[in-house]
Amino acid sequence: MYSHSKVDSIKIVGLGKCLPKRILTNLDLEKMVDTSEDWITTRTGIKERRIVDKEYASILGSDASLKALKRASIKPKDVELIIVATITPDTQFPSTACYIQKDIGAKNAAVLDVSAACAGFVYALGLAWSLVGGGFYKNALVVGSEILSSITDWKDRSTCILFGDGAGACVVVPAKPSSGMLGMYLGGDGNFADLLILPAGGSRLPAANQTVKKRLHYIKMQGNELFKIAVRIMVECAQKVLKKCGLKNSDLDLLIPHQANLRIINAVAKRLNLTQEQVFVNIHKYGNMSSASTAVALCEAYEQGRIKKGDIVVLDAFGGGLVWGSCVIKWT
Ligand code: COA
Repeated sequence: MYSHSKVDSIKIVGLGKCLPKRILTNLDLEKMVDTSEDWITTRTGIKERRIVDKEYASILGSDASLKALKRASIKPKDVELIIVATITPDTQFPSTACYIQKDIGAKNAAVLDVSAACAGFVYALGLAWSLVGGGFYKNALVVGSEILSSITDWKDRSTCILFGDGAGACVVVPAKPSSGMLGMYLGGDGNFADLLILPAGGSRLPAANQTVKKRLHYIKMQGNELFKIAVRIMVECAQKVLKKCGLKNSDLDLLIPHQANLRIINAVAKRLNLTQEQVFVNIHKYGNMSSASTAVALCEAYEQGRIKKGDIVVLDAFGGGLVWGSCVIKWT
């Protein structure tokens, strides 16, 4: 946990998003696995999700980045740092940040990826805060880009109904103390690694005929267990970070939670005593896009006029690792 007493603040000066055109509805999924539109809607709140045709993470990420830079009136060549949160990179290496740097022409930027699953965008913002707020760079492009369809088992009805593809990006620059980023809380617990995992393809279990046959290159998830932990952790995260900033739940103008399941979002909102107007939801359109979920939701909330100058906005994310992260932004 750190706050502006250690580093200067940062503020968001541009936001962008990119969603693939192709829509996969619950009715489409009925034709693929043994499920129903009603089951998916009732249990998850998801109605449809976007799926790429041939695009990959850097393509969506570059598009979102260029939109964010345009809104920030910053030229690609002036970008000093690119941080990309993704668990579905174009390649194991080079990093997806390298490809985005090339594609948008940000030839003067330092580049790296962050792997923190669904909390990736908040973790990446944390890094940007320390590096830009700490004076190492004048600005940063922070991206969450995911092609979850590439690691989804389309024969597994317990997971394939949940995920989608997309990307969101923001540009951050230094800010005056007590504005912009006010506080952040990041955490994790590797003891729960098996609850949500892509088992093969890394150095522990390299790709082989057997790993493909056993379908180990797809997401494996223990949904029920995750559900309970997600609600508890997301409530704790939001409370801890608000307290750190000297704020109460009622000070919050908009909670932007990770969009994993509408029932999780509603349970978190209820425990935090928030009204529907205080919580941003777009899961019905996009499903769970891992690190891109909070990035896209933040961008969309802004585009819809749900965030105004002076508002207290909280991002609250949770994902495979387990990892979690929450931050408070006073919108400037
Ligand atoms: N369609 C129809 N039935 C399905 C189904 C589907 N797509 N998926 C599972 N089922 C069945 C199960 O087989 C089970 O049947 P059974 O009772 O005969 O065994 C039944 O529905 C209930 O399954 P369960 O897993 O208990 O459902 P649930 O209410 O927990 O909902 C999730 C499942 C995945 C939607 C829910 O657990 C969830 O969202 N968990 C959190 C996941 C998450 O947050 N992941 C990302 C973290 S970033």
